[in-house]
Amino acid sequence: MSRSSPRVGLTHIDLGDDLRGNMAEEIRAGLTDEPKWIASKYFYDERGSKLFEQITALPEYYLTRAETRILERASDSIVTAAQPDELVELGSGFSRKTRLLLEAMQRLQVGYRYLPLDVSEEALLTASKSLARDYPWLEIVGVVGDFMSHLEDIPRDGTQLLCFLGSTVGNLDPDERAAFYRRVSARLEQRDRFLVGFDLVKDKRVLESAYNDSRGITAEFNRNILLVINREFAGNLPVDEFEHVARYVDERDRIEMWLRARRAIHARLDHLDLEVSLCAGEAIRTEISSKFTRDRAERELSAADLTIERWLTDEQCRFALATVAPGDRRQGE
Ligand code: AVJ
Repeated sequence: MSRSSPRVGLTHIDLGDDLRGNMAEEIRAGLTDEPKWIASKYFYDERGSKLFEQITALPEYYLTRAETRILERASDSIVTAAQPDELVELGSGFSRKTRLLLEAMQRLQVGYRYLPLDVSEEALLTASKSLARDYPWLEIVGVVGDFMSHLEDIPRDGTQLLCFLGSTVGNLDPDERAAFYRRVSARLEQRDRFLVGFDLVKDKRVLESAYNDSRGITAEFNRNILLVINREFAGNLPVDEFEHVARYVDERDRIEMWLRARRAIHARLDHLDLEVSLCAGEAIRTEISSKFTRDRAERELSAADLTIERWLTDEQCRFALATVAPGDRRQGE
């Protein structure tokens, strides 16, 4: 399934039907589990992607600014070291930070193609059109997909720099992360590099306020996931009867976001033929956002035969960008 939009020179490999097929089963699994959960990739419809954009500009949400600072300082050296023909980006969203890498590629005359992958078709198209306008030399191939299921579907033509920014890797639980790293490791060829962002362990108050902003944008973002589900499955979950909860769980080094029922709720998702009932105070987990130390990142990566080459942090050590190379346990290379 492939279509192209000649006006922007954008090829769009659409894995969207596949994505929606999985969604029904995944939502059913989560809402019949104990405790209930919803996978965080479902935040990102058009409204959700825009709300996340607003989050990145909030004074409390330091992650995006910290990572941007690192990229401003280091994108030239990252591109020089990696010499990619292609920049692949997982969870690209509106590709804002990516521009720093693309500009380095332009300055250094390295590489010719950008392959963003995102679950949000709207974000992908908006970003691709705007990048095509600003970087006429760049070929763009957008892939609607999710980085857990569709890594292998991303085309390749040369050496790749595979980027996973924003600490999105923290949204995976430890088992999912281990599986994801193994697949990244299997995908990487000897000269490819993996560039991955990690939000770092820090003062709990700083972390909790990043996910409990005073303007309530994060709360809107959190509740948006219920609007997505209501729309997709003809549901009547009473969105305003859920309270946003985000707290740091010390034992697991992670923020967890939940939606807590203010009262007992009985709702229905018609297209899934599913009744969803919650007691007053019962909560649905919508996101985990793990925080890392260098040790933890190194240990997890090396279990998948991946090696950290550079560990770049912002001045306040809030965030790290790691450049990662395939390890030496590989066969036949
Ligand atoms: C973009 C997924 C990394 O976990 O910090 C922001 C999403 N959730 N505020 C994160 C998010 C609540 C963000 N990621």
